Amino acid sequence: MLRQALLAASRSGGARRVVETAPFTRDVVRRFIAGETIEDAARVTEELTTEGLLVTLDVLGEDTTDRERAEANVQHYIDLLRRLGDTRLEGAPLGTRAEVSLKLSAIGQTVDEALALDNARRVSTAARSAGTTVTLDMEDHTTVDSTLRTVHELRRDFPDTGAVVQAYLRRAEEHCAELAYEGSRVRLCKGAYAAPEPIAFTGKEDIDKSFVRCMKVLMAGKGYPMLATHDPRLIDIAGALAVLHGRDADTFEYQMLYGVRPQEQRRLAGQGAVVRVYVAYGREWYAYFMRRLAERPANLRLVMRSVTGR
Ligand code: FDA
Repeated sequence: MLRQALLAASRSGGARRVVETAPFTRDVVRRFIAGETIEDAARVTEELTTEGLLVTLDVLGEDTTDRERAEANVQHYIDLLRRLGDTRLEGAPLGTRAEVSLKLSAIGQTVDEALALDNARRVSTAARSAGTTVTLDMEDHTTVDSTLRTVHELRRDFPDTGAVVQAYLRRAEEHCAELAYEGSRVRLCKGAYAAPEPIAFTGKEDIDKSFVRCMKVLMAGKGYPMLATHDPRLIDIAGALAVLHGRDADTFEYQMLYGVRPQEQRRLAGQGAVVRVYVAYGREWYAYFMRRLAERPANLRLVMRSVTGR
């Protein structure tokens, strides 16, 4: 119930105004969001990569409904990627340790799928120049087919484009089977949006079971699985599947969100696993922040405590 309410609020203009202007927000938001500027993103990326973690950067902003806004978002990604290519850390460009995550809804998908594809090509070209890659985030269930079509188109020229599968979709296993081929980078996550019962599993147990089935397909396949979860049980199962399929540590990676289970991120990296942190930054933090609250009611208590001062 609470999750559904928070997800509904993530798309409500009224709730947005209340949360954005509340005096408490800044500190709590800072836990999950790296800052507002490219400088903030570069600083956090340097900190994390110095500790042996990899990064994927997300410029906040989604559900863009006009071309000018989409263009501004594309330009921001291009500027960010230029920065990743130009900044050197221990002799290597930052781009060798940080890629970008891109939401098609931020670069024109809602206006026209072809516009989003063109824009994604421009971002991918900038990523290639910076020595890095792009992963296309998966969003609301109504956009899944369009996003998968765009992934397949983009991969003709940019085979290293990352795809995302959301385990809560009933078709998730099918998506994994289609994507588990040589060279295919696939992020598996549970799914952070609201979706109706005929399309998605809605109970935690069913979603977790689907995640395991998907992991089995990806880990047995020839691609490069990117297992995006903080769930300790699923992380253990991932480790067991890696052993079962004789996968070396550099043939798959764990991914977690900035601000969520940071000790676990470092523990896994300390054991030799590849761990990538999803770092979101920018001024348009509202929808992203609300999805993080929806994932864990305890985060809401954090907000309440900062309101009441207790
Ligand atoms: P679950 O929500 O069951 O949480 C397991 C445990 O992790 C919790 O008990 C808690 O300890 C901890 N935890 C989880 N979320 C937390 C939070 N917000 N705050 C504090 N602790 C938390 N979704 C999507 O639809 N499209 C996408 O493209 C992506 N991309 C993506 C990239 C990366 C790197 C990650 C980690 C996640 C995504 N997601 C996503 C989000 C994903 O679908 C999912 O909503 C969250 O990862 C939470 O699910 P868990 O697998 O962590 O399990």
